[in-house]
Amino acid sequence: MDLFSEIEEPEREELKRLRKELEEANYKYYVLNMPTLSDREFDEKMHRLQALEAQFPDMFDPKSPTQHVGSDLGKKGFEQVRHKYPMLSLANSYSREEIEDWVRKLPSGVEIVCELKFDGLSISLWYEHGQLVKALTRGDGVQGDDVIANIKTIPSIPWRIERDDIPDFFELRGEVLLPWERFEALNKEREEQEEPLFANPRNAASGTLKLQDPKEVARRGLEAYLYYMLGENLPGKTHYERLTTAKEWGFHISDAIRVCKNVDEVMAYIAYWDTERKNLPVATDGIVLKVNNLAQQEELGYTAKTPRWAIAYKFPAEKQLTLLKEITYQVGRTGVVTPVANLEPVQLSGTIVQRATLHNEDFIKSLDIRPGDRVWVEKGGEIIPKIVGRADRNDEMSATPSLNDGMMYSFPDVCPECGTPLVRVEGEAAWRCPNEAGCPPQIKGKIEHFVSRKAMNIDGLGEETIDLFYQKGLLKNIADIYDLKLEDIAAQERLGEKSALNMLAGIEASKQVPWARVLFALGIRMVGETTAKKIARVYNNIDTLQWATAEQLCAIEDVGPQIAENIVAYFNDMRNLEILERLRQAGLQFEGEAAEGPQSDKLAGMSIVISGTFAHHSRDEYKAMIEANGGKNVGSVSKKTSFILAGENMGPEKRKKAEDLGIPLKTEEEFLEMIQ
Ligand code: IVH
Repeated sequence: MDLFSEIEEPEREELKRLRKELEEANYKYYVLNMPTLSDREFDEKMHRLQALEAQFPDMFDPKSPTQHVGSDLGKKGFEQVRHKYPMLSLANSYSREEIEDWVRKLPSGVEIVCELKFDGLSISLWYEHGQLVKALTRGDGVQGDDVIANIKTIPSIPWRIERDDIPDFFELRGEVLLPWERFEALNKEREEQEEPLFANPRNAASGTLKLQDPKEVARRGLEAYLYYMLGENLPGKTHYERLTTAKEWGFHISDAIRVCKNVDEVMAYIAYWDTERKNLPVATDGIVLKVNNLAQQEELGYTAKTPRWAIAYKFPAEKQLTLLKEITYQVGRTGVVTPVANLEPVQLSGTIVQRATLHNEDFIKSLDIRPGDRVWVEKGGEIIPKIVGRADRNDEMSATPSLNDGMMYSFPDVCPECGTPLVRVEGEAAWRCPNEAGCPPQIKGKIEHFVSRKAMNIDGLGEETIDLFYQKGLLKNIADIYDLKLEDIAAQERLGEKSALNMLAGIEASKQVPWARVLFALGIRMVGETTAKKIARVYNNIDTLQWATAEQLCAIEDVGPQIAENIVAYFNDMRNLEILERLRQAGLQFEGEAAEGPQSDKLAGMSIVISGTFAHHSRDEYKAMIEANGGKNVGSVSKKTSFILAGENMGPEKRKKAEDLGIPLKTEEEFLEMIQ
């Protein structure tokens, strides 16, 4: 190295550092919506980088932040990447005997590391020269999806390790989790939106990690614990040392790791955590035992699916007997009457359970339970509490005969809220109150749904305010919202002029909410957010939708006969038409921005498979383009496939099938040319 380049070296380093810093800042700003630099700081760093790049033209890089505007990455499909080391699973055990059996097969005197078994999904993080470069899901164990844009939303995962003592490449594996608190908040939100609930935090974490929208992933708040470091030239001779090192390097490693010398110590660890885990912020379903010495691990090796040097011990599903004090009934916004078990409070996996859903009449009858029974409540695999059975009524300890002696359980035949006789639609398990326009929880529920975040997003009109306005006769339906006057609102206790003005501003802003969300907000039975979007894409204004027949509606993706019937019934109800007219007068968007039916027939009659990842558009965008040009996007390759829109890293199975059937592949450029 000559003298000049030695002098230049710090500046070249600065250039590289600034690129990374600005890239990171762009990502946080555009993708995560969490700016980390002020505009001024950002501009100053950008100017400095521009100056340095001008000084060192040999370091030109088209990927530099000076060469492109920040974009919200992560919109494209995930890239499939082969694991460097296969991602195996663990053999399970359930008892001391099974653990003893396993230990017996190990070299005598071996040390065993005990760790918590986190109940999420595994992730493999690749670090190259200290930089996080890939984050792979387990996939099929051989190759996984690179979900790095979503993983970067997890605050405890370092994007970069700035140390001299790290190998050029290493991999850290761990578990991605949605903490209990976040899980419960997410499900509450989904319940309000009538979206299907996640059964447990693991499903929620897995659904979240697959989203193509890192902003939404960031909002949900994933967490990760890391438990396994792999790679060449790593420091340490034991697993425990490696994890300690990883911790020093800044990785999130659980504190609950112990080196045990015998089965008694292992069992003591299990006993401790079986109780203590209930106080953890994340779900665990067992513990993992690993041989500590890495040379011994290597000697023990692997079976086809699992390492011989590790085993999982699974905690028994947590179940408790408690008294079913009473069955109450909840009426939802669509009139469905749900029976709720009111229980003698009982401690289950860290939370006190006093209510659990009984789903419907058939469920209660199948378990033959009635008030006064002692029932089993379970949080199996940490699921939302459910009733799984009842204790024998003849068992003295189990029942309170006075309460249920000789009485058969019967579901109410009138609405517990408004007294209207309930109806049960054939083929459905639910009883429903048909008094849509007069049943208080249905009226309030519809208004709550209408103003909710994913619908009209009207701030300041929460559950309590809606209840208050309903009591005062100010709100009887969704159209009344647009007649609210400043003086009416401000006259209510708790609501001053300031909040009244806020609320009115929110109401005014809602007039700009796009047609698809307005359609969702109307609360037509079974028309959720996604279905509403699909309908609005085909029917881009309310007038054409209003006259659509059930048969026509069924042609829309995801719309089955039941949903179609519900839509037709909605528009056949005069009361709804009156409300819609008032909303139209108020200025709501009853029309989409662009006609989104097929805009050309260039792909008419074609079945097209999309595979791989793309540079110019996301998969969803390509799907929309296919549909807009009269084609059909299908999931799997068959004789009928017209061609495959093939991106980078197309799945090997699809490629083989396409070759076998002689189906042509088109690149994205060729495709774009076709529909030009
Ligand atoms: S070690 C080759 N340690 O459990 C062994 N796994 O049922 C690699 N898991 O696929 C896994 N906590 O997703 C290990 N402390 C822990 C773990 C853990 C949770 C998961 C992991 C694995 C699954 C097997």
